[in-house]
Amino acid sequence: MAIFKTQVVSEHEDGAISSAVELLRAGNLVAIPTETVYGLAADATEHCAVQQIYEAKGRPSNNPLICHVSDIEMAKSYVVVPPIAEKMMQRFWPGPLSLVLEMRQATKIALPVSAGLHTLAVRCPDHEITRQIIRALGHPIAAPSANPSGKLSPTSVADVKTGLGGKIPLIIDGGNTDVGIESTIVGVRAGKLYLLRPGTVTADDISQAMGEPVFDRDNSEITAPGQLASHYAPTAHVRMNASHADDSEIMIGFGDVAGNYTLSHSGDLREAAQNLFRILRAADNTGAQTIAVAPIPNHSIGIAINDRLKRAAAPREAT
Ligand code: TXA
Ligand code: MG
Repeated sequence: MAIFKTQVVSEHEDGAISSAVELLRAGNLVAIPTETVYGLAADATEHCAVQQIYEAKGRPSNNPLICHVSDIEMAKSYVVVPPIAEKMMQRFWPGPLSLVLEMRQATKIALPVSAGLHTLAVRCPDHEITRQIIRALGHPIAAPSANPSGKLSPTSVADVKTGLGGKIPLIIDGGNTDVGIESTIVGVRAGKLYLLRPGTVTADDISQAMGEPVFDRDNSEITAPGQLASHYAPTAHVRMNASHADDSEIMIGFGDVAGNYTLSHSGDLREAAQNLFRILRAADNTGAQTIAVAPIPNHSIGIAINDRLKRAAAPREAT
């Protein structure tokens, strides 16, 4: 694994886009901001570059990557887009919704992007500079969250540096991410929709916009490898649904339940998602053995927050 002096360039700096594109063209990795979390990007059509993503993250090779596109047209060159998927793209793109679709045959997408599956996850990020990078590159970028495998996703440049500093040549600084948790993933199969990962675009948002039910992933035959029970693991243990902290614990509050930190004083779920990984990191950095987290209502965006908390609280698996 190459050792780099990791450079940080502001998204507003002249030449930010061209520096990123130049490195990507040469087969290097670049950390890029998106509206959800920072991504670790490679040209999705370059086998060796994509392979480096797995190495840099220590990611199991059976865990496929999301392909980020600049627009619907670019997606259509790589995946088959049925009418129901096109309608979702028109309604929710650019934005935090990834769609798992049938890959086109004879596609130029490098094999390790889909980890050998015949489907591909595509997403158009709601981030102007990152879309411009993709447009200028002329290819989709494969980008998982820019963290070592199994750790919390990064919502700031400092987080990316902590996890991957020295392993990548460039980070494009887009400030703190807005959404704070990873995109919703929906699989489309035989005209039906399946929720593979909850996010801030909720199943209710989608079924309301589409006039179609969104089924649970357990009812799908869609393979979603790599979604291990234990993930997003801080060093500390996580205890959910806590009304107060015990002596050895640090407390994350929500709404009326107070804590050393709070996800949202006013009980706003969107704000809580935005703060979730940042506050989990801060609580973990105190060195406390256990992080106690207030109950989060399990509806709307709360479903996605509880999903991430459950993975953080799950018994640790070796990855
Ligand atoms: O918000 C996001 O989605 C962020 C930013 C960087 O865009 N990316 C992200 O990627 O969260 P990652 O690699 O951390 O999570 C992607 C997940 C994988 O764990 C895998 O389960 C699922 O997407 N996935 C990717 N391709 C798939 C496929 N063909 N079929 C089923 N699931 C797939
Ligand atoms: Mg990830």
